Amino acid sequence: MMLKGKTVVLGITGGIAAYKAADLASKLTQAGARVETVMTESAMKFITPLTLRNITGRPVVTDMFEPASEYSEEHVALAEAADVIIVAPATANTIARLAGGIADNMLGTVVLATEKPVIIAPAMNDVMYRNTVTQENVARLKARGFTFIEPEYGRLASGKTGKGRLAETSKIIETIEKVLGIKTDLEGKRIVVTAGGTQEPIDPVRHIGNRSSGRMGYALAEAARDRGAAVTLITAPATLPAPGGVEVIKVKTAAEMKKAVVAAVKKADALIMAAGVADFMPKTAARSKIKKESAALNIELVKTPDILSEVKGDFIRVGFAAESENVVANAKKKLLAKHLDLIVANDITAADSGFDVATNRVTLIDRTGKEEGLPLMSKREVAEKILDRVKGMMK
Ligand code: CTP
Repeated sequence: MMLKGKTVVLGITGGIAAYKAADLASKLTQAGARVETVMTESAMKFITPLTLRNITGRPVVTDMFEPASEYSEEHVALAEAADVIIVAPATANTIARLAGGIADNMLGTVVLATEKPVIIAPAMNDVMYRNTVTQENVARLKARGFTFIEPEYGRLASGKTGKGRLAETSKIIETIEKVLGIKTDLEGKRIVVTAGGTQEPIDPVRHIGNRSSGRMGYALAEAARDRGAAVTLITAPATLPAPGGVEVIKVKTAAEMKKAVVAAVKKADALIMAAGVADFMPKTAARSKIKKESAALNIELVKTPDILSEVKGDFIRVGFAAESENVVANAKKKLLAKHLDLIVANDITAADSGFDVATNRVTLIDRTGKEEGLPLMSKREVAEKILDRVKGMMK
């Protein structure tokens, strides 16, 4: 589901390759994208809007009932909603239109009205493609920032062979992902992420908890998923929705988390411990609710298992160090003590960093002791940086 949450406007123009746009629309939809199709009048001579509507589950925009007008709301809405526009197949005529900024049909209007990236996948007779005027138009559009997916060499509709076939669907999707900045660099990797704050029971209604919200761990799980990894998220209680496309294992205590981590890391390439794990737990949890009769209450606490230190195996280990003083020095100690490959240190005294906020300011420290101080950024961005480092250590 690499394209989940992305809106792709698919422009189809009138060439014999238009039928291939159905396959593209289908694969994009399967990848999680919302596909908004815009068809030119000549495209509809090759493939019907009904086909695209059924494949994408979305209404198809055509010039049939609503002549495009500069005042039509629809094209502006589409132009804004798009994360990317892909014109596939693009005829020589459409390329010329777009190069000239002509907006006499819906597709031309949407492209003119957008500030989002536009990708063009031409398909036409090889002579038309080579023609100087077509090449000039291509060059003009490239100079304006359009991305072109070169047509491929092969058998053309005319029966001749030449350079003019629409690029393969996989190539088009790869280009869309690249333009959208989507990475697939963790494909085939298994990553275990822990999140949330453990709860150590005192009695049936009370526990010792901590302020971890789960945000950093959930952001890591989502980022790793979006980069193609198979992700197991082992989460102590958190108020966040479970991310889709991720194996979620819910636990409460440090001991339960340890058990789940031991099982999950067996096939893992990396373990990222973003959870706030209690260091101490009540020696025994009272079976019935503790009443307030007595003047004072003493609860004996014992150490919880230190998951990062105790879980063995051949995988990359990433820990977090939530510190309130001597941040880097304390984090370095933990890195060594817990045999980590990377530690993410943050100063929890800063209001915009640490617990239950959307942003974080961290320092990454690796085994060589090298420090990388990152500026304040969203937890998702921090997650991407951590994964970049994890990826770098995987080779
Ligand atoms: N951690 C763990 N098991 C524990 C406690 C912590 O695996 N029982 C992990 C955390 O998820 C984190 C890292 O170890 O990735 C550091 O946790 P932290 O609580 O900051 O460090 P401690 O070693 O517990 O040291 P202290 O509480 O004294 O700062």
